[in-house]
Amino acid sequence: MINSATAVHNFIGIAPLQTEQLRNLLTLSQELAKGGGNAAYKNALANKAIVTLFYEPSTRTRSSFTLAAYRLGARTLDIAPDNSSLEKGETILDTLVSLQAMNPDLFVVRHSGNDVIKQMLARMHSPLVNAGDGSNEHPSQTLLDLLTISLHKGDISKLKIALVGDIAHSRVARSFIHAMDKLRCAELRLIGPEALLPDNFCESDVIIERDMDKGLAGVDIIMMLRIQKERIEEAKQQGGLLANPDDYFKLYGLSPKRLQLANPDALVMHPGPINRGVEISSEVADSPSSLILKQIEYGVFARMAIFLSLLDDECIKRVWG
Ligand code: NCD
Repeated sequence: MINSATAVHNFIGIAPLQTEQLRNLLTLSQELAKGGGNAAYKNALANKAIVTLFYEPSTRTRSSFTLAAYRLGARTLDIAPDNSSLEKGETILDTLVSLQAMNPDLFVVRHSGNDVIKQMLARMHSPLVNAGDGSNEHPSQTLLDLLTISLHKGDISKLKIALVGDIAHSRVARSFIHAMDKLRCAELRLIGPEALLPDNFCESDVIIERDMDKGLAGVDIIMMLRIQKERIEEAKQQGGLLANPDDYFKLYGLSPKRLQLANPDALVMHPGPINRGVEISSEVADSPSSLILKQIEYGVFARMAIFLSLLDDECIKRVWG
């Protein structure tokens, strides 16, 4: 999405991207992952300063952005909100505008609010990258998921893909569904109980399935999702399926037996953090069918591509046209 006031590009969601732009980002990520681009871009962002500002916990995403910056020669300034002026009552927007006054080159922000990133955009003149906003979008995760799928399965248009679990509260799912609206896989199935996947969940071309065994039949990719407890009211967690991890696992957990219902060469994904024994068994998570650690590995390349598309003149032209 381009900020019309400043003509600066941002990466705040998959929804605002044109199909071609998403494809261009994926192609650049693939080049980097296959090694071709690494030497060429080693110092592409030397002297650039990137601020990361995470208002929600993160292990993978934050380190992945930081390592991506290092691999391109950039430096990062990692602000920890619990040790910043936010503790003294400053608003998030004031924090951001104050940091921006020091003229860093790019901001990476994660926040629990669904609108905060959009509000920030209006005040920014440096590029902004969304590292996950509430249950809205997690676009860099989707780029790395697409990269992982393309490297291990090839042409996405031929694949049947199932997303399983807490779809309603998942920004990972939402961004991925936006991507499939643009890139079109053969079939996208959403599997979960009504509490985590309402009947009217989305207008995209998806199949909603409550019975996991039926939903997994013949799929090529299974993407498991964590129950987003931090986004579900306490009261809703008390009753029914969510109260007991064993009950949940029985209906919506991925066990080796269930995995056999999918295609024989089906691969399993999960954005992490995984909850073993809740949505996925250890046997599956640690099996050769699991791409979980590959996703983390490729995430650095996807995030390098995002930085390059916003800060490197040649890549800006290549990706945004
Ligand atoms: C996801 C997130 O933060 O949205 N994790 C991640 O970025 N790797 C998924 C989750 O928290 O369940």
